[in-house]
Amino acid sequence: MTLFHGVAVVTGAGGTGIGAAVAKAFAAAGCERIAITDINETSIEQTRATISSAHPKTQLLVETGNIADDKFAETFINKVVSQFGRVDYAVNCAGVLGQSLRSAETPIEEFDRINNINYRGCWLSSRAELKQMVKQDPLPSHDPERPPQRGAVVNIASQLGIVSRPTAPSYCASKSAVIGMTRADAIDYSQDGIRVNCVCPGVIETPMIMKETEVRERITPAMEIAPMKRMGKPAEVADAVLFLCSTQASFVQGHAMVVDGGYITV
Ligand SMILES: NC(=O)c1ccc[n+]([C@@H]2O[C@H](COP(=O)([O-])OP(=O)(O)OC[C@H]3O[C@@H](n4cnc5c(N)ncnc54)[C@H](O)[C@@H]3O)[C@@H](O)[C@H]2O)c1
Repeated sequence: MTLFHGVAVVTGAGGTGIGAAVAKAFAAAGCERIAITDINETSIEQTRATISSAHPKTQLLVETGNIADDKFAETFINKVVSQFGRVDYAVNCAGVLGQSLRSAETPIEEFDRINNINYRGCWLSSRAELKQMVKQDPLPSHDPERPPQRGAVVNIASQLGIVSRPTAPSYCASKSAVIGMTRADAIDYSQDGIRVNCVCPGVIETPMIMKETEVRERITPAMEIAPMKRMGKPAEVADAVLFLCSTQASFVQGHAMVVDGGYITV
């Protein structure tokens, strides 16, 4: 028996990062209608191939696009609804780290790029998802004692939306904004039977962290501070995301769930 009878949508789902792990986890958990998108055509194709070969029954909608583009989020969600009929679990994962700079050295273009993807892009995506969710009939819970669920949004913020670190003012602020937006949407959409939460990952072994030596070196001190003293795996974040999407999280609303090996507790 799957917890995921509905339709899942994942942005930033290309390659081997958190979004790809979330899409794969939905398929492994028995979700049979999944829409994935990424700006990178090659990496989203990689996710499609992995899911299709491991879970041939899963129906996939795959789109390439830029979530910072005003029109893309609406177009994408319209395609999801015309193919699958609804949007039940929406996971907004697309994001960038940006350059390592203090504020005075940060070009305005770099500030705008980071915020346009991480914050505004997340808002554009969740806005399009919420527009659809409010219109659809709720699905029954796995537990007849609990209310049905009209939809669940999970935004991917960061531990750096809660605490900060050197030379990342634009990134930290973009992720704090995601947490604030999540709480505000949770308040506004409770009346519709929609839950809105976010996950705040710590240092996770994804291309964002691993692809550049400079980033890996910058991140190493964070792992020494974190009590668990290791990087997290994308699948460990995906498990938290799926819990928040499921009706097992029926009373979890506006939460920023930290998945960081204890980093922010120190
Ligand atoms: N890896 C970490 O340590 C970590 C920690 C905290 C938060 N996060 C957040 O998790 C999310 C996923 O990051 P990840 O670590 O898996 O990195 P990643 O680079 O593997 O994944 C990010 C994905 O977003 C896509 N993307 C970037 N800009 C886009 C755009 N404009 N439109 C559409 N797609 C776009 C990329 O192509 C990529 O596939 C991000 O929001 C990131 O900020 C990551």
